[in-house]
Parts: sequence; structure tokens; C-alpha cells
Amino acid sequence: MFKERRMRVLAVIYVIGLLIFFIVSCSPSRNQGAYLYERDCSSCHMPDGSGLGELYPPLAGSDYLKNNQEKLACIIKYGISDTLTVNGVKYDLPMEGIKKLNEVEIANIINYINSAWNNQIPEQKLEDISFQLKKCN
Ligand code: HEC
Repeated sequence: MFKERRMRVLAVIYVIGLLIFFIVSCSPSRNQGAYLYERDCSSCHMPDGSGLGELYPPLAGSDYLKNNQEKLACIIKYGISDTLTVNGVKYDLPMEGIKKLNEVEIANIINYINSAWNNQIPEQKLEDISFQLKKCN
């Protein structure tokens, strides 16, 4: 009787432990992505990803974002100065790279903007981002 109760208590503790483990190990990457977006990107692209008029292009619902997934890591790290057409609007101010970001941070930002604001772009793998960063020019 006593033993059975102890087993049950142990089982409950075990399940709670597992739950905590999952919560702790699943959310940090998205949280970090959101935090870094807020810190390094939102001043131009706005917290809701809508951009700023004809100066800063939107990330929410951006066709450019969707169609240029393989360029993203390099854009974030080294910037871009080109004339970009995003959802039919031309943007030509340059964007500076944010060199202090490491590849894990870049991956978390990319996967945050790919899924935020109803963007439904598939997640990118860290190894792909790592590969892209070796070939930026
Ligand atoms: C100082 C303002 C500024 C900051 C900060 C900034 N950007 Fe940009 N971003 C721009 C501008 C301007 C362009 C257009 C560049 C061009 O036309 O060559 C751009 C273009 C882009 C594009 C491609 C166009 C689009 O809208 O899909 C992406 C993706 C992007 N930025 C993501 C980011 C991310 C992620 C961060 C943070 C890590 C960031 N930017 C920080 C100004 C900024």
C-alpha cells in the first residue's frame, strides 16, 4: 500500500519533470529570435513587420522574404544594397549587416520572421544557414 503510493508520487514527479524539460528546451530558440528581432530589426521593419512606408520594406507577408530564403542569412549578417522590389514596391536604401550575430542567433531570427505575423514559411535548418554563411559575397 505504502509502496504503491510512493510509486505514484514518483511517476507524477517524473511526468512533471519531463514537461518542464520540454518547455525549457523547446521555447528558447523562438524566444531568442523574438528578442533579437525586437533588438536589432524592429526599429526599421517595425515590431509588427510592416516596414516603414517607402523607406523600409515589410517582412510580414513579404514576397521577397518568401522567395529569397537562401539569401537571408547573408543579408542579416552582411547587409544588402540593391534595389529590391517587395510586394510591388521598390526600395533602395541600403541595409547594414549586423556582424555581431552568430549563426545560431541568425537562425533563430530567420525562423522567427518566417513564422511571425502569419508568415507561413518553412523553418530553415541550422546546417543550411551555416552553409549559406560560408558563401556570402
Ligand atoms: C537601419 C534599418 C534596418 C535595420 C535595423 C534592419 N533592416 Fe532589413 N532592410 C532595411 C532596408 C532599407 C532594406 C532594403 C535594402 C535594399 O533595398 O537593398 C532591408 C531589407 C531587408 C530584407 C529583404 C526585403 C524584405 O522586406 O523581405 C529582409 C529579409 C530584412 N531586411 C531583414 C532584416 C532583419 C531580419 C533585420 C534584423 C536582424 C533587419 N532587416 C534590420 C533596413 C533595415
